[in-house]
Amino acid sequence: MRTRSVQQVIQSMPTSDGGGVKLRRSLGQSQALRLDPFLMLDEFSSINPDDYIAGFPNHPHRGFETVTYILDGHMLHRDHLGNEGHLKRGGVQWMSAGRGIIHSEMPQQDSGRLRGFQLWVNLPASEKMKPAAYRDIQAEDIPVLNLTEGGQVKVIAGQANINGKVTGGSIQGLSTELLFLDVRLRAGGSFIHPLVTDHNAFVYPYEGQCDIGSLLKIHPLESQSLGVLTQGDCVEIRAGGEGVAFLLLAGKPLKEPIVQYGPFVMNTREEIEQAIADYNNGELV
Ligand code: CO
Repeated sequence: MRTRSVQQVIQSMPTSDGGGVKLRRSLGQSQALRLDPFLMLDEFSSINPDDYIAGFPNHPHRGFETVTYILDGHMLHRDHLGNEGHLKRGGVQWMSAGRGIIHSEMPQQDSGRLRGFQLWVNLPASEKMKPAAYRDIQAEDIPVLNLTEGGQVKVIAGQANINGKVTGGSIQGLSTELLFLDVRLRAGGSFIHPLVTDHNAFVYPYEGQCDIGSLLKIHPLESQSLGVLTQGDCVEIRAGGEGVAFLLLAGKPLKEPIVQYGPFVMNTREEIEQAIADYNNGELV
C-alpha cells in the first residue's frame, strides 16, 4: 500500500463570477492551476444575499462538464431548450455541456445562506461534441454511509469503498472514472479510502481542518485550501480538533491538450475559434 501525501496546496482565493456572485476559487485560478481532468473548483458560501442574488444569468458552455453541489439554499437552472431543474439543499446537478448549452443558474431565495460548489470536469476529445445532457440528483437519492466511529460519507460519483464494502454513487460510468465523496468526520476521526494509483486526486476541507497522509508523513490542510495528492493506492485523512467536512475527488487524467477560452474548453485553437463563431451565429447548441 502506498499512502498518498500532499504535493501541492492551492489556497482558494476570493473572486466573483456570473452576475457578481462572490465565491472562492481554488483549481482554475490560472491555467497552471488545473489537475487533469479537473479544470476548476469554486465554493460559494454567504448569508448576505448581496453576495449571491445576481446569480449566473444566461451563459454558454462547450466541451466539458459542470457539477453543481448545493449544501444550503436552492437554485433554479434553466437552459435554451426550456429544461428546468430545481437544485435543492444536498442536491447535485451534473451537466455535460458537450457541443453546447446556454443556461442560467439563479438563486431561489432572497435571504438565508447559499452554500455550495461548482466543479468543472473536462471531457475527452471524443465526447466534446456530444449533445448536452443533464442529471439532476436530489439529496435523498445520494447514498449516505455512516462510519463506525461517527461521521458520514455521501457518495456523489464513483464507488465508495469503506473497509471493503463497496457502494455505488449517484453518478457512475464516466470516462474520467470520477470519484466524488463528501465526507464529514468528528474531532479526531479518521478516514481511509483506496484510490486508483495513477488517478489525480485532491482533498478540499470546507469546514475545519485535517491531516493527510500516513503517520510517518502527515500534512496539515487548512479549511478552504485544496490539497493536491501525490500518486498512490490510498488516502488517509484525520480530522482536526473541531472535526472536518471535506470533498475528496479523484479522476483519470485525459492527457490531452487543453485550449480554454472562458466557458469553452477544447483541444485546439481552431476548435475554440469554431466555438466562438458558432456562439456568435447562434449555432453553439
Ligand atoms: Co454554467
